[in-house]
Amino acid sequence: MTATEFQPAKTPVRQPILQARDLVKTFGRVVGLDGVSLDLYPGEVLAIIGDNGAGKSTLIKCLTGAEVPDSGELKVSGQTVHFKRPQDARVHGIETVYQNLAVSPALDVASNLFLGREERLPGPLGKLFRVLDTKGMRRKAKEELTRLGISTLQDVTVPVENLSGGQRQAVAVARAAAFGSKVVVLDEPTAALGVRESNQVLQLVRDLRDRGLPVILISHNMPHVFDVADRIHIQRLGKCAATITPQSHSMTDAVAIMTGAATA
Ligand SMILES: Nc1ncnc2c1ncn2[C@@H]1O[C@H](COP(=O)(O)OP(=O)(O)O)[C@@H](O)[C@H]1O
Ligand SMILES: [Mg+2]
Repeated sequence: MTATEFQPAKTPVRQPILQARDLVKTFGRVVGLDGVSLDLYPGEVLAIIGDNGAGKSTLIKCLTGAEVPDSGELKVSGQTVHFKRPQDARVHGIETVYQNLAVSPALDVASNLFLGREERLPGPLGKLFRVLDTKGMRRKAKEELTRLGISTLQDVTVPVENLSGGQRQAVAVARAAAFGSKVVVLDEPTAALGVRESNQVLQLVRDLRDRGLPVILISHNMPHVFDVADRIHIQRLGKCAATITPQSHSMTDAVAIMTGAATA
């Protein structure tokens, strides 16, 4: 036997998919982020909560290339990155669903999934006449939905405007999660939804997590956060006041930390 065979099995060190260190972002005299760090691990739902103005949006904008931090470091799978625009983050598999401009209502489900990455027919029809490969995209859209475990969207040829609010949100989430994404960032995904539809979207978040895709979830809804989050990052006055878990703290504790009435 060689010496290596006697070495004890090492516990694998979990490497974060996304790491932020000491992010600072100022807007003139206003400090949006005052040295914020965050780690996102494979297969976890990380919620970000905080009062209005606490820096939640600025934080995710820095993580997704929509804002450029003044200083600090960002790493994807251990590699330092510098995002100048959202496209830079997308190239690294970081996809964001913003609250409003999430889907194109007039287009069908498949077209929404392929928005911005449409596929043309092979040969001169596609190359010269730019004819879309509708059939191919529909087939791939179905495959992706199945792979992601999204069962609420059976027919990919339905225009999104004919879908319920929850199904529309599912389209937006599917688009972000499809085609090799590494991280999905959701900004208030249940804000405009009823109870049943919110539950569908929360289930979708769990399904993505269970398939190994980490999710960052910004939400004001404490029960939703405590329902799906593995860890909860609490922003307060531009800083991370604490990172807690639903097991370590109650909702009341979380609100107290958010408002400064308590520390973790
Ligand atoms: N583009 C901007 N210009 C000036 N101030 C901004 C801008 N974006 C955010 N801020 C300020 O930065 C702080 C954090 O804002 P934001 O990240 O939107 O908080 P949250 O999303 O938690 O409500 C606030 O004081 C806000 O007014
Ligand atoms: Mg905000």
